Amino acid sequence: MPAHRNPWILRAGAAAALAFLVACGGSPREGGTPATLSPAAALGDRIFQDATLSASGMQSCATCHSPDNAHAPANALPAQLGGPAMNIQGTRQSPSIRYLATNTPFHFEKDGTPSGGFFWDGRARSLADQAGGPFLNPAEMAMPSKAAVAARLAAAPYAADFRKVYGEAIFTNPDQAYLCMTLALQAYQQEDAGFHAFTSKYDAFLRGRARLSAQEARGLALFNDPLKGNCAACHPSARGADGAMPLFTDFTYDVLGVPRNPAIQANADPAHFDLGLAARPAGDLADRADLYGAFKVPSLRNVTRRKVFFHNGYFTSLRDVLTFYVQRDTDPAMWYPLNPDGSVEKFDDLPAKYRKNVNVTEVPYNRKPGEAPALSDAEIEDVMAFLAALVDGFVPNGD
Ligand code: HEC
Ligand code: HEC
Repeated sequence: MPAHRNPWILRAGAAAALAFLVACGGSPREGGTPATLSPAAALGDRIFQDATLSASGMQSCATCHSPDNAHAPANALPAQLGGPAMNIQGTRQSPSIRYLATNTPFHFEKDGTPSGGFFWDGRARSLADQAGGPFLNPAEMAMPSKAAVAARLAAAPYAADFRKVYGEAIFTNPDQAYLCMTLALQAYQQEDAGFHAFTSKYDAFLRGRARLSAQEARGLALFNDPLKGNCAACHPSARGADGAMPLFTDFTYDVLGVPRNPAIQANADPAHFDLGLAARPAGDLADRADLYGAFKVPSLRNVTRRKVFFHNGYFTSLRDVLTFYVQRDTDPAMWYPLNPDGSVEKFDDLPAKYRKNVNVTEVPYNRKPGEAPALSDAEIEDVMAFLAALVDGFVPNGD
């Protein structure tokens, strides 16, 4: 994976969105974390929590990205339920949406590494582009049209504020009103400190204001060690050259071969596969056979607060995730079903022709059955202790 570089300033995606913002009459802001929200962001805050903008009347952004749960769901479902009657299951895990403000649109790095983009498959170019999706997604907020959403906005208690920010006539143009709504949601996620607090114990440690316990320090060393966890290769843990705090993702993609999750209803069809990056609906990467099965590297900040893990929510315990990382190749029978002939159906959530895409060369995946895992059980406990130091809201106790 390429060296991580994500300075804490608004970059390409945000810059492109700022051009729209001006068209929508809002005032663009430079980077940083303002103590008070701009009028557009304050509006975005209201919209983020407004369940009347869903067909069911029961779902808002906050339902699946609860501020009380590191902006992830409160429940442990592998994929959330939505739709007009709240009974349609999505196909992917609902991620934490913190620490995304410096992400860029999807692109290939100079060395060819796929990078950036929003969603597990990078299909949205910006937070605003992303925010246009859930309202019309039949398995989520399930509204019939942009005009229907705009009509609800026009009837919302904050409609007057919306007009003040985006113009008195804004609701006469539903498409424009919808676009401005997505920009308000983007402004909220960029400006509200809750989305990028950098207040974990590890942040305090990096700032020289806290000490890691012996176990946390061992976990950090294992996390970084290229011959042990090698986690930092994709989940960078060091400050950027410019001093930017680490995000624990480099926004690249990888094929991990996560086991198929029977709890995802779409998987009842044996011909259904979620192939991530290269299979995204635009079809722009459809000819990249090598990228089928790749999903975006998620941030590990607040990861100990998650209840389900990986794009398909297969794992429900962090210890299992870490054990999978180091034993996937040394003991595959523990993770994958057996074929009728007794062999292990390794990488069973990928069609056979794409199983060669799975990363089997980088540490900790570079092992053979029977070899010692890259991390022992005790070392996994150490890494877990370190990951627990990535939770926002650490209060130094004077140690
Ligand atoms: C029914 C649950 C649900 C609702 C409602 C919902 N989301 Fe999501 N959100 C998800 C899921 C699932 C994904 C991942 C989907 C994918 O990758 O295809 C996601 C992905 C995202 C991402 C991208 C994360 C990343 O790492 O790239 C952002 C940002 C986001 N949602 C913001 C929002 C906003 C803003 C709203 C309200 C307009 C919203 N979500 C409503 C479930 C939900
Ligand atoms: C080669 C890149 C790479 C390396 C090395 C790597 N990861 Fe990951 N990690 C990923 C990708 C990609 C995903 C998402 C995969 C998916 O959902 O299909 C992920 C997901 C995760 C998740 C699930 C997070 C969530 O919100 O669902 C955890 C936890 C995690 N990694 C921890 C680790 C730890 C600990 C290590 C070191 C032992 C590590 N990773 C090494 C690329 C990597």
